[in-house]
Amino acid sequence: MNSTRKIALVTGATRGIGLETCRQLAGAGVFVLLAGRNMTRAREAADALRAEGLDVEAVLLDVTDAAHVAAVAALVEARFGRLDILVNNAGVLLDGPGRKPSEQTLACWRETFDTNVFAMIALTQAFLPLLRAAPAARIVNVSSQLGSFGLHTDPRSSIYDLKLPAYDASKSVVNAWTVHLAHELRDTPVKVNAIHPGYVQTDMTGGTGELHVSDGARSSVQMALLADDGPTGTFTHLGEPLPW
Ligand SMILES: NC(=O)c1ccc[n+]([C@@H]2O[C@H](COP(=O)([O-])OP(=O)(O)OC[C@H]3O[C@@H](n4cnc5c(N)ncnc54)[C@H](OP(=O)(O)O)[C@@H]3O)[C@@H](O)[C@H]2O)c1
Repeated sequence: MNSTRKIALVTGATRGIGLETCRQLAGAGVFVLLAGRNMTRAREAADALRAEGLDVEAVLLDVTDAAHVAAVAALVEARFGRLDILVNNAGVLLDGPGRKPSEQTLACWRETFDTNVFAMIALTQAFLPLLRAAPAARIVNVSSQLGSFGLHTDPRSSIYDLKLPAYDASKSVVNAWTVHLAHELRDTPVKVNAIHPGYVQTDMTGGTGELHVSDGARSSVQMALLADDGPTGTFTHLGEPLPW
C-alpha cells in the first residue's frame, strides 16, 4: 500500500450513514476499514462497496467490546502504524417513543451511554497513539442536533417538542467530549470535530428523514477530509455551526 494513502476507520458502518461514509471516503481515495459488530454483515457491506470498485476492508468491531477494540487497534498498528481518520459513527437510539422523559428506563439510559458515550471515549483512547502517529489525523464524532441545549431550550426550534432524554443527553456528552479532546490536542495536527448529519433516511429514523443518506454522510466526510487550516472543537452540519 502507498504509504501516503490515508487510512480511515468508520465504526457502525454496516448500514445507514456509516456505510455511506465508507463509500464516500473510499471514493475520495482513502483506504477504509469498514467496522461492524457482526462480521458477516460487515463483510457483505464491504463486498458491496468493493463491487463498486472501492478499496474497503471489513473488520469486526463491537464498539462496546474492549477485546474487539484492542484487536482492531493491534491490527491497524501492525499493518499501517498509524490511523489518519477515525469516524465515531456507531450509535443507538433506544428511548421508548411513547414514554415521557421521566419514564425512560434506567436500562435504556445505561445501554445508550454504553454505546454512544463510553464506547466512543474508550475507542478514541485506544486509537489516539495511532492517530498521533499520522501526519494530520482527523477525528469525527457523529453527534446530533438532538444533543444541542441551545435548540432544546428554544421554543422556536424544530426539535423543541422532541425529547428523547437518554439519546439527547448522550449526544450532549459527545459534544462535550469533542470540546475537551480538541482542547487537549489543540497544539497538535489532530483535529476533533462533532457533526450533525441531518435528519437522514436510515433505519434509525424508520426511513422518515429529510435527507438521502448520500447527503447524510457529507458532514462526516467533510470533517474527515478537513484541510490543515480547518477548525477543531466545532459542532457543525455541512460546515454550518450549530448551537451547543
Ligand atoms: N439518521 C439520522 O437522522 C441521524 C441524525 C442525527 C444523528 N445520527 C447519528 O448518526 C449515526 C449513524 O446513524 P444511522 O442513522 O446510520 O443509524 P442506523 O441506520 O441505526 O445504523 C446504526 C449503525 O450503528 C451500528 N451499531 C450500533 N451499535 C453498535 C455497536 N455496539 N458496535 C458497532 N456498531 C454498532 C449498527 O450496527 P448493526 O448493523 O450491527 O446494528 C449500524 O451499523 C449514529 O451515531 C446516530 O446517532 C443519525
